[in-house]
Amino acid sequence: MLKKIATAAGVLLLATLTACSGGGTGTASGGQDNGKITMGFAQVGAESGWRTANTKSVQEAAKAAGVELRFSDAQQKQENQIKAIRSYIQQKVDVIAFSPVVETGWDAVLLEAKRAKIPVILTDRAIDSDDDSLYETFLGSDFVEEGRKAGQWLVDNSQGPVNVVELQGTTGAAPAIDRKKGFEDVIGERPGIKVVATQSGDFTRAGGKQVMEAFLKSTSDIDVVYAHNDDMGLGAIEAIKAAGKKPGKDIRIITVDAVKDGMQALADGEINFIVECNPLLGEQLMDLAEKVVAGEEVPKRVVTEETTFTPEQAKAALPDRKY
Ligand code: AHR
Repeated sequence: MLKKIATAAGVLLLATLTACSGGGTGTASGGQDNGKITMGFAQVGAESGWRTANTKSVQEAAKAAGVELRFSDAQQKQENQIKAIRSYIQQKVDVIAFSPVVETGWDAVLLEAKRAKIPVILTDRAIDSDDDSLYETFLGSDFVEEGRKAGQWLVDNSQGPVNVVELQGTTGAAPAIDRKKGFEDVIGERPGIKVVATQSGDFTRAGGKQVMEAFLKSTSDIDVVYAHNDDMGLGAIEAIKAAGKKPGKDIRIITVDAVKDGMQALADGEINFIVECNPLLGEQLMDLAEKVVAGEEVPKRVVTEETTFTPEQAKAALPDRKY
């Protein structure tokens, strides 16, 4: 089995890099002369509430840890992320962290980082590569397990035939591939549960709405929506309402993330179950970065702890929800 790693960076990128970098260019020995660690962070984009919370977490944690952060937004394009990583290599940052937009196509640029002796940390999403020496560690969720939790809830809460439509995340992205797999593995144990239509909504609210509108026109008897994130589920809710049906009742909805908007819809009974995916990775990322730069051993894989939510649990959790 190939190891998972990840992908992505445009014309706007250099402007973004300059605007967010604080302007430093680093030294030949890596980083800046002021003793601070310099981190180049190539983010996927701003496609979802989860991503916004993740970016905030990374930026706040860098500030608190005294890490000089050079941040770029790849607008969900692998080529933008690759350009950003190359730019960080040229700048001789101390460490590069990135959340790959897709799983494959990273070996060449990560080999460039390795040759330049700049350690790489994968955060949030994995890559698919035979060479695990291309990165120091991978910090993030177990997306297969998230899909399994979603499937298990459906198995435990269904009888007879169930027609599911699936709103997949970005094509080729680790969470889309793994959440699909985990879900299918579990529902496969119950022959009555069938995925009757599946398509990517690119992890966005607009994408979820558009795909759900098409599903409602082309597919009769939809019982359940399985959306790979809250945003697509929220888009589906809009489409279901516009079609004159009640989300959460006529069509049950399962999502992944548990951001505030999703949790509110769950508390309101428009979503039925949410599997948590924790975006607050900033502190752990800075801790790992400090260790990696100091040459200390770090685990190759750091898995995020996560839970699930029913409507009652969402009502209880909402007042203290941070994102
Ligand atoms: O990689 C994490 C996923 O990316 C989140 O579930 C989704 O909301 C985001 O866009």
